[in-house]
Amino acid sequence: MQTLTVGLAERSYHIHIGSGLLAHAELLLPHLPHKRTAVVTNTTVAPLYLEALRTLLQSHGVDVIPIILPDGEEYKNAATLGLIYDALLTHRCERNTPLIALGGGVIGDMTGYAAATFLRGVPFIQIPTTLLSQVDSSVGGKTGINHPLGKNMIGAFYQPQVVLADIATLNTLPDNELRAGIAEVIKYGLIRDLPFLEWLEQNMEKLLARDTEALQYAVTRSCQNKAEVVGVDERESGERALLNLGHTFGHAIENGMGYGVWLHGEGVAAGTIMAADLSQRLGWISTEDVMRIRRLFERAQLPVVAPVLGVEKYLQLMGLDKKVVGGKMRFVLLESIGHAVVTGDVPQGLLHQTLEACCGNA
Ligand code: NAD
Ligand code: GLY
Repeated sequence: MQTLTVGLAERSYHIHIGSGLLAHAELLLPHLPHKRTAVVTNTTVAPLYLEALRTLLQSHGVDVIPIILPDGEEYKNAATLGLIYDALLTHRCERNTPLIALGGGVIGDMTGYAAATFLRGVPFIQIPTTLLSQVDSSVGGKTGINHPLGKNMIGAFYQPQVVLADIATLNTLPDNELRAGIAEVIKYGLIRDLPFLEWLEQNMEKLLARDTEALQYAVTRSCQNKAEVVGVDERESGERALLNLGHTFGHAIENGMGYGVWLHGEGVAAGTIMAADLSQRLGWISTEDVMRIRRLFERAQLPVVAPVLGVEKYLQLMGLDKKVVGGKMRFVLLESIGHAVVTGDVPQGLLHQTLEACCGNA
């Protein structure tokens, strides 16, 4: 097991990463002093992992309230959030009743937001079970739900007390979900960790084959990157925005296609190619660099061509991005491979060229 720390003064916490951690009650018990917890999960993850977790905690005298939600990005909304509050109130949960998120990023984001808001804040524990949630969404405290007009538009920064990433849970993950997680892994290499990108170029097939050692390394290295960024910029006033490489385009794809049609990581993959294309049009990176990035996503079997939504639709959806300031769009782009920056200085003509070049006709 490897343990990292997200350094946020009195809100600092550990990320434990290893195979079989779900059987280690000692990692959770210090955070459950009142011997009661609500475990929020979904209809897919519950049959796989809920019973084992419940039995383990109950054997240590912890009362477990299971809350099982419907599965899917299309349920990451206010109506489903309401189901969590309903269950918490029905079971008379109190301010000292921690919520455990057992599942992928959808469960983690919704549970975190419920924890941030229920009784004005209750403790929160992340047990991420997808690659994407282990390398990204469970760390850093971004929580929230979608709105029909925009992705992750309602939310709060609310840090967990601990993150338990059990690599063994990735063995039951569908292939396309594993690949979606790899998109966020590649992101760290592109924005700030060139040696990690080179490692990914050498080890992509091992990751796809779910080699435990490779997964452990990729999750740990990704979490190290994320913890460093969050440690210096928790609320995204600067460097943290770089973690959104590919997301301005990707969120537009996810929303434009209808939540759940494209996986988040798939949108990020195609969106990153668009960001790379735009970076190249600005003269920052070369066409060979764009091809190098594209090859890596292709080897990860991720989409590199965005869907045809129409330039106007893309512009409208991208205008809802959280990075928009004073009505002006801002983009995370690559100054070089391994170094991303945020810029608002993108000529409209070049953006149009990228939107036309990267959608459906490559
Ligand atoms: P997800 O939560 O929808 O999980 C993907 C699928 O895998 C679901 O069907 C889920 O039930 C299933 N699943 C989960 N664990 C499993 C397991 N071990 N075995 C078998 N099936 C399993 O998707 P995701 O990719 O984990 O997360 C995507 C979400 O995360 C998006 O909503 C995105 O906006 C959000 N996100 C948040 C942050 C953040 O910082 N908070 C960062 C990145 C992404
Ligand atoms: N996934 C982007 C962030 O956590 O900031």
